[in-house]
Amino acid sequence: MFRNFKVVSRVVFGRGCFNQLDDIVLENRKEAGSCMVFLVDDVFKNSVLERRLPLQKHDMLLWINVDNEPTTAYVDQLTRRIRSHVEVDSKQVAGGVIGIGGGSAMDLAKAVAIMLTNPGSAADYQGWDLVQHPAVYHMGVPTLSGTGAEVSRTTVLIGPQKKLGINSDYTVFDQIVLDPDLISGAPGSQRFYTGMDCYIHCIESLNGRFINMFSRSYGEKALALCREVFLNGGPDEDDKLMMASYFGGMSISYSQVGICHALSYGLSFVLGIHHGIGNCIAFDRLEKYYPEGVREFREMLERNRIQLPRKVVADLDEKRLEKMIDVSLILEPLWQNALGSDWKKKMPREKIKDIYRQM
Ligand SMILES: NC(=O)c1ccc[n+]([C@@H]2O[C@H](COP(=O)([O-])OP(=O)(O)OC[C@H]3O[C@@H](n4cnc5c(N)ncnc54)[C@H](O)[C@@H]3O)[C@@H](O)[C@H]2O)c1
Ligand SMILES: [Fe+2]
Repeated sequence: MFRNFKVVSRVVFGRGCFNQLDDIVLENRKEAGSCMVFLVDDVFKNSVLERRLPLQKHDMLLWINVDNEPTTAYVDQLTRRIRSHVEVDSKQVAGGVIGIGGGSAMDLAKAVAIMLTNPGSAADYQGWDLVQHPAVYHMGVPTLSGTGAEVSRTTVLIGPQKKLGINSDYTVFDQIVLDPDLISGAPGSQRFYTGMDCYIHCIESLNGRFINMFSRSYGEKALALCREVFLNGGPDEDDKLMMASYFGGMSISYSQVGICHALSYGLSFVLGIHHGIGNCIAFDRLEKYYPEGVREFREMLERNRIQLPRKVVADLDEKRLEKMIDVSLILEPLWQNALGSDWKKKMPREKIKDIYRQM
């Protein structure tokens, strides 16, 4: 069976295109009095960006905090707040959700847009194609590039038992606004770690069993752009990184990521390590599986003067290490992509433990 997957319906790209937000939102305001919810990373509180938000009378601005990666409980809490705000005036409708920030903020926007039209908790929908009702209109505005969250059909959440996405056609954004100016102020190390998420997407996609010409075409271009950004730099690097993230996301949407991502999910769940940095810590230990990629990654680390955290797992107690392994093993398609259908034989728990212990 070939996957018949949904893509983002509308894309605007270019330096300064954030100025068109008002017009784009206006077209999608269903009726007078409908409420647009702006979910914005609180790193932008009191910034120039705050003053540029095209808020109207009935709109709601919710500052979101992403010091910890998004949880299902946080999504439920935000959804309740929006519902109670909207119910104050019964004429109001939550007309849409606009997520502004890095991968975490965009994922929260996608998840909240789904939960505004679906019953229960976000945790009920972690998995594949469990969402029953279409989400409200939702838009993503990245302020970091690399995760590919702007184009993916998933919103990655930490639930009570696992870190797993809500994978659904309804998750995909209706609109994305790609303005390279918005990523230019990000701190260097964060920019690097999120950018490496994209680099690793490409390596895992291109070296996986699920590769096909669709994914290869996007993956190769994204990889070339990552090389330009992290090995050479230059004047257009924000534009390049933004498009690398988009292309890398498109590449994995029709293939899959691999071992590094499976291990990184375990690091996030047990130790709260953010996705980008977790990927870097894991990837550095995967020379055996991705030799060329890891060699080049180390060159990028050096050129960008990044010191990876060491000994994050080495001294971890057995119980938490076992949980880490459990979480990584939930990601079956990732292992399958990297190692083939007999991956369980090739990668017993002990082997995973060995790799984790080196981190
Ligand atoms: N949905 C998907 O397809 C997908 C794919 C990969 C990762 N993810 C998720 O994305 C998240 C990681 O996203 P990320 O790497 O973009 O980082 P992030 O969104 O977690 O943000 C990292 C830090 O950077 C700050 N920040 C964001 N933009 C900034 C800017 N322009 N200037 C200064 N600071 C800024 C944030 O406040 C935060 O402190 C994880 O939760 C991960 O699970 C999702
Ligand atoms: Fe990723």
